[in-house]
Amino acid sequence: MSGDKVEESGTKTVTFDVMVAMSDNRGIGNKLKLPWPTIKKDFEYYVERVQRKSIDGKRSVNIRGRLTWDCTQEVEKYGVYNIVISKSMKDSGQLEDPKIQKVCASVQEAIDYCSSPPFCDEIGPVWIMGGAQVYEEAINHPQCRYIFVTHIYRTFEADTFFPKFEEQYEEISLDDVDGSLQQDNGLMFQFKVYKKKSVTK
Ligand SMILES: NC(=O)c1ccc[n+]([C@@H]2O[C@H](COP(=O)([O-])OP(=O)(O)OC[C@H]3O[C@@H](n4cnc5c(N)ncnc54)[C@H](OP(=O)(O)O)[C@@H]3O)[C@@H](O)[C@H]2O)c1
Repeated sequence: MSGDKVEESGTKTVTFDVMVAMSDNRGIGNKLKLPWPTIKKDFEYYVERVQRKSIDGKRSVNIRGRLTWDCTQEVEKYGVYNIVISKSMKDSGQLEDPKIQKVCASVQEAIDYCSSPPFCDEIGPVWIMGGAQVYEEAINHPQCRYIFVTHIYRTFEADTFFPKFEEQYEEISLDDVDGSLQQDNGLMFQFKVYKKKSVTK
C-alpha cells in the first residue's frame, strides 16, 4: 500500500490493478470456464502475481464477481483477502464461507471498503479479477493503475468478453514481467502490461 494517499480520518486512496487473460477476439470466458485449454505457465504467473504480498508482508486483496468466484479453483482462494461482488449472495448462505472476507454490491463499494480503516492498514496489493461487468467498472475507475493482460493469440468461442481499454491505457514493460512471445499446450501467448495514461508512475 506504499504510495497510497492517507487522509486525516485514516482513510486511504487505494489504487488497484486488473488481471485478465483474453483471446484475439477479446474472449475471456465460455460457459463459465476459460475458452482455451489450460495454459500452465499462465496459471502459475497469474496465481503468483495476484497472491504476492506487499514488501511489508501484507496479504493481497482479490476482488471477483460472484460467477467468477463460483468457478474459481480452490488454489486461488487461499492466502489472500477475497472480496466477492454480488447483490444476491447475502441470501444464499455463502456468506458463511470463511474464505470470503467481504461481499460488496459493486466495485466502488469494494474499493471503499479497502480504503477504510481498519482494513486499509491490513492489506497489500488490490487486484480486480473479473468477470466482464466487474472489469468494465474497474478499468474506467480513476484509481485503476495497470492492466495485466495475458494475450492468447488465437480466436476462441466465447460468451464473455473483455471491454475495450486501449484508448485510456498505454502498453509498458516491467522488469519482472517476461514480455516475450511464449508457447504452452500448443498456444502462443504473451504477458502484457498496460498503464492508465493519467497515471504518472
Ligand atoms: N480470462 C479471464 O481472465 C477471466 C477472469 C475472470 C472470469 N473469467 C470468465 O468469465 C466468466 C464469468 O464472468 P461474468 O462476467 O459472466 O460474471 P461475474 O462478473 O464473475 O459475475 C457476475 C455476477 O457478479 C455480480 N456482479 C458483477 N458485477 C456487478 C456489479 N457491477 N454490481 C453488482 N453485482 C455485480 C452479480 O452477482 P449477483 O447476481 O449475485 O448479484 C452478477 O450476477 C466465466 O466464464 C469465467 O471463466 C475469465
